[in-house]
Parts: sequence; structure tokens; C-alpha cells
Amino acid sequence: MSQPLLTLDFLDTPTLPTPAVDAATHAHEPSGQVRVQAATRTGKSRKLYIESYGCQMNFSDSEIVSSILFEQGFDTTDQLDGADLVLLNTCSIREKAEQTVRMRLSQINSHKKRNPGLLVGVLGCMAERLKSKFLEEEKLVDLVVGPDAYRDLPQLIQQVDGGQKAVNVLLSREETYADITPVRLNSNGITAFISIMRGCDNMCSFCVVPFTRGRERSRDAHSIVQEARDLVAAGYKEVTLLGQNVDSYKWASEDGTESVNFAQLLERVALISPLLRVRFSTSHPKDITDEVLHTMARYDNICKYIHLPAQSGNSRVLALMNRTYDRPWYEERVRAIRRIMGEDCAISTDMIAGFCSETEEEHQDTLSLIDFVQYDMGYNFFYSERPGTLAARKLEDDIPLEVKKRRLQEVIDRQQLHARARYARMVGRVHQVLVEGRSKRSEEQLSGRNSQNQVVIFPRGTAQKGDYVNVLVTSTTGAALIGEIV
Ligand code: SAH
Ligand code: SF4
Ligand code: F3S
Repeated sequence: MSQPLLTLDFLDTPTLPTPAVDAATHAHEPSGQVRVQAATRTGKSRKLYIESYGCQMNFSDSEIVSSILFEQGFDTTDQLDGADLVLLNTCSIREKAEQTVRMRLSQINSHKKRNPGLLVGVLGCMAERLKSKFLEEEKLVDLVVGPDAYRDLPQLIQQVDGGQKAVNVLLSREETYADITPVRLNSNGITAFISIMRGCDNMCSFCVVPFTRGRERSRDAHSIVQEARDLVAAGYKEVTLLGQNVDSYKWASEDGTESVNFAQLLERVALISPLLRVRFSTSHPKDITDEVLHTMARYDNICKYIHLPAQSGNSRVLALMNRTYDRPWYEERVRAIRRIMGEDCAISTDMIAGFCSETEEEHQDTLSLIDFVQYDMGYNFFYSERPGTLAARKLEDDIPLEVKKRRLQEVIDRQQLHARARYARMVGRVHQVLVEGRSKRSEEQLSGRNSQNQVVIFPRGTAQKGDYVNVLVTSTTGAALIGEIV
């Protein structure tokens, strides 16, 4: 039952190593992962190669970008060789995320030297953070486009075709791309993500997202429900509603006759079909309401899993982080989850180790919060100062790197202890599993997830991708459940 050990130079990996099998559908995939868009071949004249870094919002945006460019005569390709346009959809969340992109850009630049006609563009959060400075720093980049300016891509590409460089990093208060149907290129045909809002108004002191993604805005509820309906009609069985802070979703019709909060949106999507599973991410501890928890409890098809990032277990540090809740508040929200949905509802977190001025005692509070909640999963990081944020301007980044890394490893170890126990308590029980496909370990095994988002692996029998099956779990690897269909 040994767990692959995380080494310290691979810190952007989730604490519970996602099993090597079929785990590509996490809602809050951490930075450090890269995904290449799959190929579509419809005979269009130009080829787009797009790589995405960072969170699921970026992966979803790449599907919108592909859709916009498809209309402009671009097929996508999964090969850099032969591409006419290369786009990197980038992340700025930690310094390491930006370094990864820079390294990739230098490889692409040497490819460009051999292929002079190739156009190279940078999208996403790093484009937004660095703006036209990017063109000075990276001479071979032709195009810099921020997250709210993708509709302008056709015009910007024309400009580049005409021999100029092109930049649009304007942020918007309205843009939600509500009317654009994403091209689902990397899809397993079973699970999909729906972006329900953009931006963030929270100003956590460590975080660059409010600067790179702009103000929070919620997408038209009808367009969300319609997108989910279309997915069901196309055979999809699970949707994940995405936003930086889904609990503050709020949409009102222009004539003011209709207003929808997150709990109501969740219910509308759950009502589309009892065979459609509904997930969501991310929940902010200050905003998650009992109404949302009761809605989850009421519908079997709303999955019993909440990603509820704590960031720290100490109230003074939380105040410095500008998270606007304290430890007692967070603990109360966890008790509410347990009260309303019982012990089985899975909870995961993000933690930051070694934030400005964090003492050893305060770090111990993070460990004791992990013990209190007994998280099923955790995405843990050490603090990385980001230029322009409140913390960078007002607080000293004074914890030495070795101390940050040691504290992070302690957070990881403590969290894994509980994750293993949470897996172990599932053994001996029957779980409803949505089959997502073949297990990568063996042709004869299928892989899917239970409501709690745990991976379940079992002999295929007659089951097919997209089926719901009941699996009796007989053992666990600590990162996946093993069982058989009953
Ligand atoms: N909206 C989500 C977080 C999105 S960013 C939320 O509020 O929970 C994903 C995670 O990256 C954060 O939860 C945080 O743990 C981590 N993170 C953000 N900025 C960071 C920084 N400067 N250094 C280290 N980790 C950071
Ligand atoms: Fe960043 Fe905080 Fe917004 Fe999350 S809620 S995206 S951590 S500012
Ligand atoms: Fe990264 Fe931007 Fe997402 S900074 S985590 S890609 S919102």
C-alpha cells in the first residue's frame, strides 16, 4: 500500500498523487500540468496547435478559442510540426508556473527559427499580467491576448498576417462568451466542464487572479442550462460547473424579473436529467451557504464532493491573506457539511505553507485543521510572491525557502494520512460509479469515479463507457479504489 512519494521539486502536484489511471478530469487541476489540444481534421486550410497551462478555466477557454478560430478556417493539430499558429494559454499563479511557460516558449522559438512562417501567440493570465512587455522580453512572440479578448483573435491574427505584432489585453466587465459553443477536443465524451462565471472580486492578498482575470461576472443562467442540455443530448453524463468562487454566482435577467443564485442554478442543472451528474468548483468558505448544502443533499445526482480551499488553519494568517473568514468560521462550515450531508461527503482543500510572517505555531494550526477536517484530497503549495498583489506590496516574503519546503512537506504528509484513511473507509461498500473508460493499467479493467470523486477500478464485464454501475470495493491502493461490479 505504499504511496508514490512526492519530491520537493515537483511541488505543483496534488498532495494525493492522482493515480496514473484516467485522472485527467479534475476540476481544479493545478498549474504545472499542460494539456495539448487534440486534433480536428475537417480540411480547413490552416492548423492551430494550442497548449494550455494552469487551471481548468484555462482549459475551458482554450476550447472557446478553438471554436472562434475554427470559424476562421483553423483546424487544430496535436503536432507542433506542421502547425501554422501556435498558442500557449498561460498561467501566472506561482513563479514556477511562469517559468514552465518561459521554458516552453524558448523551445517553440527555436522551432520557429527553423519554420519562419510560423505564428506564435501567448494567451491567458501571463499575457494579461505582462501585456506588451511580453513582446519586448520574448522577441519571437507575435501575438499577446488576454482572457477577455479572445473574440478579437481573428482581427489580431489578420494584423499579424500583415506583418505586425498584435496585443489586446483589455479586461471586460461583461464578457462571458455565453453564446460560444466550446469545441470539446480532449473530451472522453462523458464528462465536460461548463464555465459559469469569470474573474474574481476577492482580492486574497497572495493571489494574482483578480489582476489577470478581472472583475467577477456571472454568465446567463439560461445559456448554462442550455449548454448542459446540449451535452446530455450528445451523450455526456457529467458536468462540472466552473468558477473561481461559484458560491457568489448571481445572475439577473435584464428586465429584472428573474434572478438566480448558485443554489438555484445547481438545482436547475440537476433537474435536466437524473442521469446527469453535477459537480462544481471552486467553493469559497466565506460564501458557501446552507442553501447550497441542502440543494446538494436533495439531489442524488449532485455529487457529494466539495473543494473548499482553507489556505491556512490560523486566523491571524487568514486575516493577512485577506480571506475574510477565520478558523472558527471555516470549522463551522465543515460541521454544516457533515450535518447536512453526513460523513461521506468528500472535502478537499488548497493550503499555502510559509506565507509572510507565518510562525511555527501558526503552521501547526494548519496541521491541526487538516486533522479536524480529515480531507479526502489536497492541493498544497508553498508561498510564491506574485508582483503587484497586496502581499507583494504590503508584506515581507520572509520565510526562508528551506522552511517553506519543510512546512509544505509536513502539510503534504499530514494530509495524505487522512486521505488514505478516507479511501480505506470506502472498502467493503457498494459505490455507484460512472464509467469513464478503460483503465490505463489494463485493457480488461474499467475506470470511473464515485460521487466523492474517488477513482474506482474494476474488471470490465459487460459494462461500457458512460454506464452507471454498482461496484463493491474490495481494496484500495491509497489513491484509487479496487472492486468488482455487483
Ligand atoms: N479561487 C480559488 C483559488 C484559485 S488559485 C480559491 O479561492 O480557492 C488555486 C490555488 O493556488 C489557491 O487556492 C492557492 O492555494 C494557490 N495559490 C494562489 N496564489 C498563490 C501564491 N502566490 N503562492 C502559492 N500558492 C498560491
Ligand atoms: Fe484568488 Fe482568492 Fe479569488 Fe481564489 S478567491 S481566485 S484565491 S483572489
Ligand atoms: Fe493560473 Fe490564471 Fe487559472 S493564473 S490558475 S490560469 S486563473
